[in-house]
Amino acid sequence: MRVQVAIIGSGPSGLLLGQLLTNAGIDNVIIDRVDRDYILGRIRAGVLEYGTVGLLDAVGAGARMHREGLVHDGVSLAYAGVKHRIDLKALTGRSVMVYGQTEVTQDLMDLREATGGKTIYNAGNVTPHDFDGRPHVTYEKDGTTHRIDCDFIAGCDGAHGPSRIAAAQNGMKGFERVYPFGWLGVLADVPPVDHELIYANHERGFALCSQRSNTRSRYYVQVGLDSKVEDWSDDAFWDELRRRLPRETAEAMVTGPSIEKSIAPLRSFVAEPLRYGRLFLVGDAGHIVPPTGAKGLNLAASDVHYLFEGLRDHYLEHSDAGIDSYSARALSRIWKAVRFSWSMTQLLHRFPDQGDFGQRIQEAELDYLSNSAAAQTALAENYIGLPY
Ligand code: FAD
Ligand code: DHB
Repeated sequence: MRVQVAIIGSGPSGLLLGQLLTNAGIDNVIIDRVDRDYILGRIRAGVLEYGTVGLLDAVGAGARMHREGLVHDGVSLAYAGVKHRIDLKALTGRSVMVYGQTEVTQDLMDLREATGGKTIYNAGNVTPHDFDGRPHVTYEKDGTTHRIDCDFIAGCDGAHGPSRIAAAQNGMKGFERVYPFGWLGVLADVPPVDHELIYANHERGFALCSQRSNTRSRYYVQVGLDSKVEDWSDDAFWDELRRRLPRETAEAMVTGPSIEKSIAPLRSFVAEPLRYGRLFLVGDAGHIVPPTGAKGLNLAASDVHYLFEGLRDHYLEHSDAGIDSYSARALSRIWKAVRFSWSMTQLLHRFPDQGDFGQRIQEAELDYLSNSAAAQTALAENYIGLPY
């Protein structure tokens, strides 16, 4: 097979890039190691920046999001038993959209199918080759090795995929911070405790009240790295969550059986550069952020925006300026989101080595935030998403 762009990975970044290319008449194929149902079974992000919403609209995948998604004009920080609302809309003129990554992925998969996009699922041993010369991707399926020749390879295959590995073998520099805790997340068909999200700082650890709809909630609590999902009954989770929230919030909480429960470790990672000849790293393949600022999925979308502009200009305007500047443009925005996610993580979690001094610094920063319009504006500007 020969295509213009071979995309490794059928997560949000691969699907969004594929659709932008298809709509522009640029031939592409997506190759993933698992199948559609497996991908749709992964419960991940829930908050979309206005830029991500705009991109989904631009490719024609926004209709269900606007019908079923929840527009949030504010978000709350809770500490010392009190909730402080940050009015995103009043401070920035923008809102965010609460709509799950699973739904985004499903809408993009449906659109790809409807517009005749090619996808190869259940491909084994997917490998990018010769991206400085004649780029191609090989994979195994049904006992045979297949080869796809292409002009460019988009590595949209997440943190553990073959694109990051290829980059590491070709001079990539990685910048990393590992945090000494994880998030235990629970999804449950119960009404959300608040109409907006609550990020809580508590002496027992961080907690987050999020949601997927008016009848489905997503909650998280900070846990130690040695914590295992099996150690947490539903009752133990709800008890711990309630302890970390302001009293009136805890009392309003409706609980029920969990429909998903998982632990995610927290980590920051950035790969530099994001381009290796004709191979590009996109989304989680190029960077990981701790979930505290809700930036992972949104960064994947902004990478796609920059790479698509470069590929479009290559094919339609005969200019390589956009491809040549992809890595620098994307990294400039990525590092700001990495900084924001790191600072929100720093502000809201209990660190084992925090000490009394660290604790007072956190309290001072939270107090400053709840009383300063300037500090709230800075947080709001980053939360709704920096401009592309
Ligand atoms: P992915 O979604 O990882 O997609 C990569 C695709 O590549 C997958 O379909 C995978 O099957 C495929 N792939 C992998 N290896 C291979 C291979 N060898 N060959 C072929 N294909 C391959 N972000 C938030 O903002 N909020 C959250 O609450 C949040 N929670 C998260 C929880 C977890 C457990 C994880 C892992 C991430 C979470 N994120 C969260 C981050 C967010 O989900 C990611 O940033 C987002 O999925 C990135 O999209 P992507 O398309 O770049 O990568
Ligand atoms: C969700 C996850 C986040 O990391 C976040 O900051 C907000 C919401 C969620 O899964 O709903």
